[in-house]
Amino acid sequence: MRKKVVLITGANGEVGHGLIPHLAERGDTLVVALDIHPLDEPLEPYCHEFIQGDILDTMLLGRLVLQYEIHTIYHLATILSTRAEYNPEAAHRVNVEGTMNLLRLAVEQAQWQGRPVRFVFPSSIAAYGLPDLETKQRAGKVREDQFCKPTTMYGCNKIYCEHLGRYYAFFYKQLAADRRPDSVSIDFRCLRYPGLISADTVPAGGTSDYGPEMIHHAAQGLPYACFVRPDARLPFMVMPDAIKAIVALAHAPRERLSQVVYNVTSFSLSAEEILGRVQRAFPEAEVTFEPDTRRQGIVDSWPADIDDSAARRDWGWEPDYDVDRAFDEYLIPTIAARYRTATA
Ligand code: SER
Repeated sequence: MRKKVVLITGANGEVGHGLIPHLAERGDTLVVALDIHPLDEPLEPYCHEFIQGDILDTMLLGRLVLQYEIHTIYHLATILSTRAEYNPEAAHRVNVEGTMNLLRLAVEQAQWQGRPVRFVFPSSIAAYGLPDLETKQRAGKVREDQFCKPTTMYGCNKIYCEHLGRYYAFFYKQLAADRRPDSVSIDFRCLRYPGLISADTVPAGGTSDYGPEMIHHAAQGLPYACFVRPDARLPFMVMPDAIKAIVALAHAPRERLSQVVYNVTSFSLSAEEILGRVQRAFPEAEVTFEPDTRRQGIVDSWPADIDDSAARRDWGWEPDYDVDRAFDEYLIPTIAARYRTATA
């Protein structure tokens, strides 16, 4: 008998760090974790198995399909927006070909199991591309179907993978002679995250990273040069809400989902407003603004806020952390304690 498992790719990344313990603690799921990097030790006890490997390694994925009955895939592995701009072709391979490999694996599993395999895919505000700052300032809360013209490789990869997921779910091999009308495929569900801020990890290679970096530097008493202007504004969410959102979407009744892609968000802040909150908690914080015009350009092309009313309507999305709770009850106390312990 093959064991029924949830597969998490990119398991050692920021979302993986929150998702793996959450799923394991639910008690109804065995987690198989995959990452190209070794798994951080504290995550090990939560995993039934950890496989260090590459999502581009089709032999490895083939072995996984034979070994397990995978009922849900959280496909988190990705190369984020800043890093992707240094090697766009490599980013395309990981972000698109890697996703194709997982979609293909999910279809094979679904056909073998005779029922849809859930495929949960985090997309991003990077899927948007607003043409200029004035439009960004005027646009307000952007809906899923507006301004979908990304300017980064990562954004292009994300929006294309949203389409690929929809294709695999509803149109896969639509003309093939052996495709039966009732043939099962995947149950693809996608959310577009805002910038994520975790108290436990710092992101690597993203463009919204100035938010988390500023907080983590200040808590350690390290100076920080912020790479965007004080007025740069993005939507953000703290990690517990990011986990809440992805798990809620994964478990939402299929018939409630009227869209393939859902925005989710919590609050929208400018870099200056983040600094204000950081200074209140860490009055000694040394933060300067040294905008990098090119990274700033990427932030300027992302919406200042996103409209998540479809997620609220269809599957009851609601963040637990508004901006005050996010800083006062989660970020500041957890991060401060973390570095106090580290230096004790
Ligand atoms: N946080 C991501 C990045 O900055 C956006 O989704 O790349």
